[in-house]
Amino acid sequence: MTTSLKQNSTLLEPLRAGAFSLPHRILMAPLTRNRADRDGTPNELQATYYAQRAQAGLVISEGSQPSAVGQGYPNTPGVHTDAQQNGWARIVRSVRDEGGQFVVQLMHAGRISHVDTTGTQPVAPSAVRAAGQIFTESGMQAHSDPRALDTDEIASVIAEFVDAARRSVAAGADGVELHAANGYLLHQFLADGVNQRTDRYGGDPENRARFVLDTARAVANEIGADRVGVRVSPGHPFNDVSETDLSVYDVLATGLGEIGIAYLHVLCEADDPVLAKLRGAFPGVLVFNSGFGADSDPHELEQLVKDGRVDAVAVGRKFLANPDLVDRWTQGAELNEPDQSTFYGGDHRGYTDYPKLTE
Ligand SMILES: Cc1cc2nc3c(=O)[nH]c(=O)nc-3n(C[C@H](O)[C@H](O)[C@H](O)COP(=O)(O)O)c2cc1C
Repeated sequence: MTTSLKQNSTLLEPLRAGAFSLPHRILMAPLTRNRADRDGTPNELQATYYAQRAQAGLVISEGSQPSAVGQGYPNTPGVHTDAQQNGWARIVRSVRDEGGQFVVQLMHAGRISHVDTTGTQPVAPSAVRAAGQIFTESGMQAHSDPRALDTDEIASVIAEFVDAARRSVAAGADGVELHAANGYLLHQFLADGVNQRTDRYGGDPENRARFVLDTARAVANEIGADRVGVRVSPGHPFNDVSETDLSVYDVLATGLGEIGIAYLHVLCEADDPVLAKLRGAFPGVLVFNSGFGADSDPHELEQLVKDGRVDAVAVGRKFLANPDLVDRWTQGAELNEPDQSTFYGGDHRGYTDYPKLTE
């Protein structure tokens, strides 16, 4: 039992973030659930799942590939075919019918992928295989060896993000979130431990930030900067990323501020000094997520907003298990516990069958 949030809690105050009018500041964090059709088409079951969670201030979708080669795991949704776009349209309609707002998280996995999943060799800033294993249809396997993107290929990868953003909005989504966190392609370019390029996309912080900034700018030109969010996880070693030089995030945050994106979403510990640095460098709305460290606690999150250290918060696992999380926190009600065994893949169990308070 958690004590209830007060009716005048700062977490429950509305917030304008670019084009998004958030009714309160508790957002649903992106959660990969591996339940799309095999060809990446989002389906009815996903529409039900997202609609159940429409009371989030903003529903951020699971990571979704902007191209076939950008897929990381089996049964993740894509945003690059007409069938996939139609699938998203159904999801957005369902969320909207429940009064929610929805953005599609565009996630190009880069080297965190396997040829068995995509049928093609993964691409990355540099031809360096990620340590560790990845889930494939035939079980865990070592990551495939990636090839380095040529400098003159970069524009076509950015064009894939632009096209996926265009399709998202055409499907009715309110915008997109670019996934530049957790060791996937955009993060791989930022990270000095992964990016070994010697062209203008590698080397000093300005160069390492360039791919993300060029992508954000191009996507902003297509759908409007006020419909674009960007997610980062500075220094987080997930997916074999290593970063010794975090000054790239100063460059990035300043550049994203100039582009005028709707929000910057930061995955880190609440006491990580990077949070204050980003607050200083980025003039727009800052969204915080716990970063796997501590379990998201409403009163700690509320304090961060109250102190002005962030503007809003995103919550992952508690939203996964509690479709009506905002109601539960507001009332101080008991929470359903997330079942880890059904996180990635499967059917409706552990997906659409978590009860609401009223059920
Ligand atoms: C099952 C699962 C899937 C996730 N998938 C994504 C994803 O697709 N994109 C992303 O940026 N983060 C993803 N994350 C990270 C979450 O968005 C969030 O950062 C993490 O769960 C920590 O927040 P929490 O303590 O509120 O759960 C995932 C986490 C979990 C547990």
